[in-house]
Amino acid sequence: MKAARIHAYGTPDVIRVEDAPLPKIGPDDVLVRSIAASINPVDWKIRRGYLAQMIPYEMPLTLGWDVSGIVEQIGANVTTFKPGDAVYSRPDIRRNGTYAEYVAIAARELAPKPTTISHVEAASLPLVSITAWEALITTAQMQPGQRVLIHAGAGGVGSIAIQLAKAKGAHVTATASAAKAALVRSLGADEVVDYRDPAAFAAARDLDIVFDTIGGDTQEASWNMLKPGGFLVSITQAPNPERATAEGKRAGFVFIDPNAAILRDLATMVDAGQIRPLIGGEFRLDHAARAHEASETGRTTGKIVLYTGQP
Ligand SMILES: NC(=O)c1ccc[n+]([C@@H]2O[C@H](COP(=O)([O-])OP(=O)(O)OC[C@H]3O[C@@H](n4cnc5c(N)ncnc54)[C@H](OP(=O)(O)O)[C@@H]3O)[C@@H](O)[C@H]2O)c1
Repeated sequence: MKAARIHAYGTPDVIRVEDAPLPKIGPDDVLVRSIAASINPVDWKIRRGYLAQMIPYEMPLTLGWDVSGIVEQIGANVTTFKPGDAVYSRPDIRRNGTYAEYVAIAARELAPKPTTISHVEAASLPLVSITAWEALITTAQMQPGQRVLIHAGAGGVGSIAIQLAKAKGAHVTATASAAKAALVRSLGADEVVDYRDPAAFAAARDLDIVFDTIGGDTQEASWNMLKPGGFLVSITQAPNPERATAEGKRAGFVFIDPNAAILRDLATMVDAGQIRPLIGGEFRLDHAARAHEASETGRTTGKIVLYTGQP
């Protein structure tokens, strides 16, 4: 089968689109024929070797940890899926990924794909949606009527976080550059703050939850945006718990794992028209390196999708 793999860490040109062996499935696995994958910043962070201390990857490594496709074959213990089922997943990042025509995934990490969207759209959803859900709902315990600020509202995570927060009844403020303000409003943001305008940034106050998707100076500024008892939830760097206590605020850090239960709930929301995918770029598998270069600019809109197979 064809796969986009790396044989060593490095720049985008270490990605080789080449023949690779068909993945072998264990008794609890499903072999998925991949129709589309999507790019997340973790893909190029892994390609650069940033997670090498945390996960001892063997080379060659197939990148990519979002997929939508069709069940091709099931392991001996699998009863929840059958060949021909349409599925989507954010699989375990410790295994070979989804920039390939076929991928082996534990059945417990798969969910039925939403029925009202294409595989290309579905592939854009799993990783960012699990992230937004775990940050806002599981960790910050977002409630209807709360005032929530989402940083990078035009990004992969932010574009889903806005829609999720609105669907759950929150009042949503999102940060975005001025050029993307209209887009972010179209996703449901009640207010948009231009993050390049210091006065507008400083005026964001009295929030119940701030979702930090940027870190650094953005996280630093986020503390002052919270009201007493407010919750700072980050996916880029752990907020200092002592500072949270000293300021009478709460804080948490999320690093996601596969979560099929969230993907099932998400599929229901997608099929009810509450959440729609936002695709900012589409590439052929052959051009995976170019897709990485685009993602690494940090300026993309929504998600970049890779075509890995025929629908
Ligand atoms: N811990 C976890 O489990 C987890 C899970 C998912 C993602 N992450 C991390 O979360 C981060 C965001 O992921 P993502 O997929 O959303 O990234 P992304 O899609 O690449 O984000 C791109 C967006 O960020 C916006 N942006 C850049 N700088 C900004 C700033 N200072 N303020 C506001 N918006 C800004 C850009 O808008 P403009 O063009 O307008 O600047 C662009 O639309 C990444 O570092 C990723 O690795 C962590």
